[in-house]
Amino acid sequence: MNLYGRDFLKLLDYTPQEIEYLVDLAAELKEKKKKHILHDELRGRNIALIFEKTSTRTRCAFEVAAHDLGMGSTYLNPTDSQIGKKESIADTARVLAGMFDGIEYRGFEQEIVETIAKYSKVPVWNGLTNEFHPTQMLADLLTIREHFGHLKGIHVVYMGDARYNTGNSLMVVCAKMGMKFTAVSNKKYFPSQELVDTCMEIAEKTGATIDFSEDAIKGTKGADVIYTDIWVSMGEPDSIWEERIKDLEPYRVTMDIMNNAGDGCVFMHCLPSFHDLNTGIGKEIKEKYGLDEMEVTDEVFESERSLVFEEAENRMHTIKAVMLATLKEA
Ligand code: CP
Ligand code: NVA
Repeated sequence: MNLYGRDFLKLLDYTPQEIEYLVDLAAELKEKKKKHILHDELRGRNIALIFEKTSTRTRCAFEVAAHDLGMGSTYLNPTDSQIGKKESIADTARVLAGMFDGIEYRGFEQEIVETIAKYSKVPVWNGLTNEFHPTQMLADLLTIREHFGHLKGIHVVYMGDARYNTGNSLMVVCAKMGMKFTAVSNKKYFPSQELVDTCMEIAEKTGATIDFSEDAIKGTKGADVIYTDIWVSMGEPDSIWEERIKDLEPYRVTMDIMNNAGDGCVFMHCLPSFHDLNTGIGKEIKEKYGLDEMEVTDEVFESERSLVFEEAENRMHTIKAVMLATLKEA
């Protein structure tokens, strides 16, 4: 498998074998890290991390992974660089590609990261756009495989805002890996018909299934994984909270939903999550709308069925695999 020089912009660009290779590589790197075996195979290289939106996991994952691989990293925060305001995306890409060996971008439209890749002669990695969150998906696959031992046929139910980065990407990755995907939500929040059609075509070849349901009980029955994300994503206006709460409250992940799914069902979430009142936004929502928890109850989040912190750790191992695979000459 040779992924040297490739961009990592969305999983639609990768074959199931390539995705599996990256998950395998991440598992190997994780084992090395746990055994304190040095793996600084990219000593002397440097990467740029462009964040037009905030981050905890993705930023830390890139920085720690780069350090473990022997690379330097430079973080460009949402306000301090010239990007988009004084300098075009195309110019920025060419400037950074002259100094760095790889570029990560987190921000708004998918088109922006595709433009950076077009103008950059070094690999570009998508750290989240409005449409896709591909590095998250590799961590999710690794987590699912560690728990269930395999990917094929695992039934993943996504509850909530299924038409944004995480929901879209989960549908794509399930289609690619021959898994069963069901979006359970108000139909306003189902992925676009265009993306559904693309995934259905992929599913025909891989044996995956793609389904949709507005019925939280029927839709979650028999699920192996119940996955959710926050109801209002970064970059969306605060004014939208009221409508989202009204539309998505019936799709909160509760212990009743987990029990309805079945005994072996686990809970996953890309994080950050509003499952209690220990966040600024959580407190504001409590004051305005009287909710103590949003997309998932604290009971589920803190339960033994919750894999969220293993999933968060796996962001680092999988991002490391993407950088190693695309930067190391085969
Ligand atoms: N899951 C995820 O991407 O988290 P951050 O926003 O903290 O990077
Ligand atoms: N949908 C969320 C994912 C955060 C990791 C957002 O875009 O804010």
